[in-house]
Amino acid sequence: MKPSHYNYHPTFPLVFAILLAFSAASTAVAQPHDQFLQSSIRILRFDTETTPKPLVIVTPLLASHIQATILCSKRHGLQIRIRSGGHDSEGLSYVSQVPFVLVDLVNLRSIDVDVESRVAWVQSGATVGELYYRIYEKTRTLAFPAGSCPTIGIGGHLSGGGYGVFHRKYGLAADNVIDAHVIDANGRILDRKSMGEDLFWAIRGGGGGSFGIVLDWKIKLVPVPPTVTGFSVTKTLEQNATQLIHQWQYIAHRLPKDLFFLVTISRANETVQATFSGLYLSLVDELIPLMETRFPELGLTKQDCTETSWILVMYMSQFPNNTLESLLNRTAANKTWFKIKSDYVKEPIPESVFAEIWPRYFNEDEGRYGSIVLVPYGGEMEEIPETQTPFPHRAGNMYKIIYTIGREEEENLDFQRYLSWIRRFYEDMTPYVSKSPREAYVNYRDLDLGMNNGSGITSYAEASIWGLKYFKNNFRRLVQVKTLVDPQNFFKHEQSIPSLSSW
Ligand code: FDA
Repeated sequence: MKPSHYNYHPTFPLVFAILLAFSAASTAVAQPHDQFLQSSIRILRFDTETTPKPLVIVTPLLASHIQATILCSKRHGLQIRIRSGGHDSEGLSYVSQVPFVLVDLVNLRSIDVDVESRVAWVQSGATVGELYYRIYEKTRTLAFPAGSCPTIGIGGHLSGGGYGVFHRKYGLAADNVIDAHVIDANGRILDRKSMGEDLFWAIRGGGGGSFGIVLDWKIKLVPVPPTVTGFSVTKTLEQNATQLIHQWQYIAHRLPKDLFFLVTISRANETVQATFSGLYLSLVDELIPLMETRFPELGLTKQDCTETSWILVMYMSQFPNNTLESLLNRTAANKTWFKIKSDYVKEPIPESVFAEIWPRYFNEDEGRYGSIVLVPYGGEMEEIPETQTPFPHRAGNMYKIIYTIGREEEENLDFQRYLSWIRRFYEDMTPYVSKSPREAYVNYRDLDLGMNNGSGITSYAEASIWGLKYFKNNFRRLVQVKTLVDPQNFFKHEQSIPSLSSW
């Protein structure tokens, strides 16, 4: 991972020749390695017989293999899709409607943790689980503020922001990136200095797949106490869940930065339940009096809390019988047919919404497979300026809503009705969430918000339909950077940043 690692390599011509052979035989579609392809697909709706497959999957071992793939794909007019962890919720990292080459970074996943300098270099193909494991292996008092699902890939995650239990204290994963290596559309390897501050700004939150292939990231590690407190309390509608959720809105974003406290709402048997859970960066004896003062109605007790390390708070419930080595397993255990949508909330939602609309949706048959998560903002998220990175959802946001629906695999599954459920739910929330634009999180990719023109030429106005929702006014700067660094729009997908010189 030293810069020299990324120099030109003698295997370049060999890879180039192999790729040429593939593309020359473009009528004979190369069969992807099924087992491998499966292992990186998190969302089953893109794992069907009719899902378009790549002409070839390249699993580079060296940067030069990526350089060769870019140049070869360009020469043969093929599109490239880039996959790190394969969690893109619309499958944009491995599905394309035009002939394409899949660059899967699974073999580029080394992690180099420097405890003394509190930094790490992590390659894009690593997962956040691998990163957390490698940090924890070396020290109990440093962590990295990123997402909680262990199989998410570093490449896509940091490209779109990356929030988790520490974002109220330390900001997003992308806020803690201090250098990176990117291969651009000309096959050049650039670091922060050589790419310049505009491109370095764009890759930290502007969404993956638009500017180049990020090889690795230099990240700042953040201090954490060796012992923290995790907690979880579940209340049903009959136990006042509605009132508690309504109250939570006024409290969670104003709590001290050391306390992260979210709500997960789902159906439970014949009722609806809300689980209030979180992580406090100190001991239980401090947490209980704090909660008694700020949210006495929840009735948090010591029995609801566990004092342990930050990594166990995050993963204890997921791997109760396993060891932390499970974090090194890249294959997601719970693959489902899945759809996700997101919203931002700036004013408290009236209690009637939680009392009438939400239980109605959860009582529908499809609602058994849905869930809503309310993720608090405030803290550091309030203080980082909206333009510091492309991720614009900062001051003024009380919390984010995540809507999901996920069905396990089943023969003749009619997923359309589950899609309809989540889309109706989202539509009914319109009056209560952010407006002009209705903001959304780019890492919860949602093609319902709009798509680039299939011809490959999309105007600023067309792309603004989805672009302003993800990036607000930062979208304009993202388009400017894209136009400069990839004027021919080589790196593209259904929601990639358009280049103005391509139309
Ligand atoms: P994937 O490989 O599918 O890539 C996503 C996008 O980035 C694609 O457009 C791809 O082309 C591009 N890309 C990938 N690698 C790249 C590279 N090296 N250079 C340039 N572009 C690249 N988010 C969050 O913030 N906090 C969370 O807790 C969670 N939790 C979560 C759980 C589950 C189950 C899912 C499915 C998703 C999340 N997410 C999340 C969302 C997650 O952050 C988002 O899907 C990321 O883009 C996933 O990154 P991957 O590398 O896994 O995706």
